[in-house]
Parts: sequence; structure tokens; C-alpha cells
Amino acid sequence: MRRFVTFEGIDGSGKSTVSKGVYDRLKEMGYDVVLTFEPTDGFVGETVRRCIEENCDPVTTALLFIGDRVEHCKEIREWLNNGKIVLCDRYADSTYAYQGAQLENVVEKPMEWLQSVSKEFIILPEKTFLFDLPPKDALDRIRMRERLISFEREEFLIRVRENYLKLAKEKRFVVLDAGRQVGELVEECVKEITGD
Ligand code: TYD
Repeated sequence: MRRFVTFEGIDGSGKSTVSKGVYDRLKEMGYDVVLTFEPTDGFVGETVRRCIEENCDPVTTALLFIGDRVEHCKEIREWLNNGKIVLCDRYADSTYAYQGAQLENVVEKPMEWLQSVSKEFIILPEKTFLFDLPPKDALDRIRMRERLISFEREEFLIRVRENYLKLAKEKRFVVLDAGRQVGELVEECVKEITGD
């Protein structure tokens, strides 16, 4: 049984829809489960969203994302201690992949830097699903959204995807083709989580 599970992917990869589906399915099966997300809706998370909108310096944004996560981990730890399964829509790998891309040419080896800043403070997920899709297809899916934020550009998302695929060499990752049917993806994630 995997108790702390994260969902990752570029914007438009469908991870929010699938994570909601997995949450509903696990609940139906009688599991005690929590679905949470990052950036959080706490005040640090709100500040991060504002930073993205206002195009703050990427160092500021990166450190705030990590701060938001440190606060979030207190809640996650409590849920886990109470025996819940915790599903998280975006987590630390989003920072490594997105801010790793933003901080290229700002710090040396940005992904390693972000990982080393984070590792003392965060809980490591037992399983991470990476919803993988070419950025062009992902952007086609979200073009209907009202307003695209600065991260939702193809050249940028190409680099983010490359970073994700590098991270996915770690054993906890399951890389899924995000072009597949939502129902199928939900079932596969549920199987991986419950170990059936
Ligand atoms: P997202 O989950 O897509 O929020 P919403 O549901 O409001 O669309 O996250 C917003 C953006 O923040 C998204 O482009 C990914 C980015 N992001 C990072 O750059 N680093 C991070 O650590 C996290 C959690 C998100």
C-alpha cells in the first residue's frame, strides 16, 4: 500500500483530472484518503501564485514554493500519522522541473541545488505518477482556458518535460502516457497505489 502519492506533469497533462478520479475511486473502495495540491491555498501558496503572475525573480519564486511546501508538509505529516492515504496534485518534483528550468544560467546545476535545499525539510513520496505528453498537445488542451500564465509556453514546457523525464529515473516514478483515456489512467494509478 502506497500512502503518500504525488501526481506530476506539465500544464495540460491532465494530472488534476486523474488525481480527482483516483481520489473518488479510492473513497468508493472505502479507503481513508485526502486529496491536496500545491501551490497550496494557504497564504504562502497565495503569495507564490502572485509571484508567478507578477513575474518575480525566479529565485524568489523557487524559495517561496519550497516554503509553501514546508508548511504543507506539516499537514501532510499529520494526515499520514492519522493513517490516511495522501494524494498530492503537484509536489516537490514540480519545483525541480519548473524552477530547475527557470534557474538555468542563474545557478549551477539548478535541479540538484533545489533538491539539496529541499531534502532536509520535505517528506519523500512513496510513489509519483508522471503524466507525460508532448507540450504541443498539452497546450492544445488548455488553450481554451481563460488566461494562460507565463509558464504555459511551449519552449519552456519542453525544458520542464525534459527535467521531469530526468527525475523519473528514480524508482518511485511511474511514467504514464497522458494521451490515454482518463478512466484507464485512473484504474492504473489505483492498482499501483493499492498494490492489487
Ligand atoms: P497548477 O497546479 O497548474 O495550478 P492551477 O490549478 O491553479 O492551474 O500550478 C500553477 C503553476 O505553478 C503551474 O504552471 C506549475 C507551477 N509550479 C511550479 O512552477 N513549481 C512548483 O513547485 C509548483 C507546485 C507549481
